[in-house]
Amino acid sequence: MSTTTIATKNTSTATADFLPLNGTDYIEFYVGNAKQAAHFYKTAFGFQSLAYAGPETGMMDKVSYVIRQNKLTFVLTTPLKTNNEIADHIYKHGDGVKVLALMVDDATDAWKQTIARGGKSYKEPTALKDENGEVILSGIHTYGDTVHIFVERKNYKGVFIPGFKKWESNYNPTSTGLLYVDHCVGNVDWNQMDPWVKFYEEVLGFKNILSFDDKDISTEYSALMSKVMSNGNGYVKFPINEPAEGKKKSQVEEYLDFYQGEGVQHVAIATANIVETVAELQKRGVEFLKVPQSYYDTVLDRVGQIEEELSPLRELGILIDRDDEGYLLQIFSKPVEDRPTLFFEIIQRKGAQSFGKGNFKALFEALEREQAARGNL
Ligand code: FE2
Repeated sequence: MSTTTIATKNTSTATADFLPLNGTDYIEFYVGNAKQAAHFYKTAFGFQSLAYAGPETGMMDKVSYVIRQNKLTFVLTTPLKTNNEIADHIYKHGDGVKVLALMVDDATDAWKQTIARGGKSYKEPTALKDENGEVILSGIHTYGDTVHIFVERKNYKGVFIPGFKKWESNYNPTSTGLLYVDHCVGNVDWNQMDPWVKFYEEVLGFKNILSFDDKDISTEYSALMSKVMSNGNGYVKFPINEPAEGKKKSQVEEYLDFYQGEGVQHVAIATANIVETVAELQKRGVEFLKVPQSYYDTVLDRVGQIEEELSPLRELGILIDRDDEGYLLQIFSKPVEDRPTLFFEIIQRKGAQSFGKGNFKALFEALEREQAARGNL
């Protein structure tokens, strides 16, 4: 493998979409023990082994395991020693998302366009090469210690990125039907939602497609505000949450306290059959927030007719909401680490393009019960 920094020239042309994105390329987590995390995501969530990099492949200071399920790719990275950016990240935040990587046709142009609009560089355009071709990576900072990496892989035929080798494993749990990233939510500090909305508008050319204020999203205690940012073609959606004043501590504030700063709150993953997916995830030990059974007594009055039988939704705790375009089914996991930080959402869209506003109250009451049990309410 060779690494080259690509020379950049000054071109900034304003076009309709100056940053065309083809979707989420991968999500990289910095974790305390990547080997065990990979086992967890394979076993519990149904990922398959894809690629590995570490001392055996010439990467002496860290290991990365790449796992995949359909169009969903996770990278789990652990440093082998202290006194480096990854070890510091884990020390401060615990296990968490470092990279939201975006698939582009031209990573050099993506970097130039975003830097010209005020983005802060994390990685200058860099070409990685091996016998399978070339991947170009570049990156910018976003909220907290989180970054976006632009990935250009149109000239690459290898398994992941140069420097990685195929990870052959004889342990291959079956898929749970998880398909792709639907959206990734960031929690930002008090009064920081609008500056980050502006960042996504100005630097990445995203649009604010939905907003929720504290009247939409507040229970007695756990208030928050949220604005949903979407790129031009809608493939990439980043809602941004900020805590709001309530009687007691906001759930976003609890996250900020334990992540010790801003970061990714949840990754929402699409499925084409949420009943089968969630039944399988629960069988494999994934824990979900549960709303009271009374939710199901009135839910169909609120959302109208749906194609699914209600009883499996009730048994599994799957929530339902409707907007002008259709309905959606969703469920939220409990945090997947000991700190009350990152969790996952499983979502099946049946026309609806929104985010389950009608479920917020029931959901946040469930969340508050968990928060209270931790003594943080
Ligand atoms: Fe969500």
